[in-house]
Amino acid sequence: MAGNDAGLLLFAWRGAVFRVADGVQPPKAGSLFFCRHLAARPGERVLEIGSGLGLAAVLLAKGGARVVATDIVPEAVALIRANAQVNGVDVDARLGDCYAPVEGERFDLICTNPPQMPTPPGRARNDPVAAADNGGVDGWEILDRVIHGAPGHLVAGGRLVFTIFAFLGKKPAFAKLEAAGLTPSIVASETQEFPRIAYERLDHIRALDPEATLGTGVPATVERFVIQGARGVSRDR
Ligand SMILES: C[S@@+](CC[C@H](N)C(=O)[O-])C[C@H]1O[C@@H](n2cnc3c(N)ncnc32)[C@H](O)[C@@H]1O
Repeated sequence: MAGNDAGLLLFAWRGAVFRVADGVQPPKAGSLFFCRHLAARPGERVLEIGSGLGLAAVLLAKGGARVVATDIVPEAVALIRANAQVNGVDVDARLGDCYAPVEGERFDLICTNPPQMPTPPGRARNDPVAAADNGGVDGWEILDRVIHGAPGHLVAGGRLVFTIFAFLGKKPAFAKLEAAGLTPSIVASETQEFPRIAYERLDHIRALDPEATLGTGVPATVERFVIQGARGVSRDR
């Protein structure tokens, strides 16, 4: 009886409706910030890595982009498919780690609002909630792989767009993009409420914080960035 009596959580935004389900992170401030600064022209090929319930993927598909959305959590992939169907759009939802589901394919836009919460040693877990938040010891575990693989999955002139917390560091983000041959820029910044999980890891995060963004007291807010790495039109990588 309890299984049939759990209710149905829905999230409505920008003319679309999304089912929210256990094991898949519901949209947060970072998700909306990310979506607000994503743009794709009709017909462009888009890859979203770590799509969760498919918020960005569905909205981009509604705008006419041809979207592949991946996640490492099977429940998320099922939910992306369901949410695409509810909103009457096609999203090619695939299960797998980072670029594994799109081997040999190239995109105009690769985007991700990735798990990026620095995770103290010994605190990593292997469950869907952890998959949504944990970014390895320094927060860059997934992003490093996304950046490294981007040139091989972007068409000439394509772009990689992702979010970071300021405590991961703007300069490291730019250096990592430049090392991959991508031209970095900041698309947007926003001040958000300090995440609860970051309070639980404050000492660990403060010990990393390469640009000392957190100051010395207990932070109430965090700065967040949407960052782009553009692939040159003539570069052959
Ligand atoms: C911070 S959540 C973002 C979800 C959604 N895109 C949003 O903005 O609300 C990160 C997502 O990445 C997925 N994920 C974690 N590790 C991954 C990996 N190695 N490859 C693909 N997806 C991954 C998680 O399951 C989760 O759905």
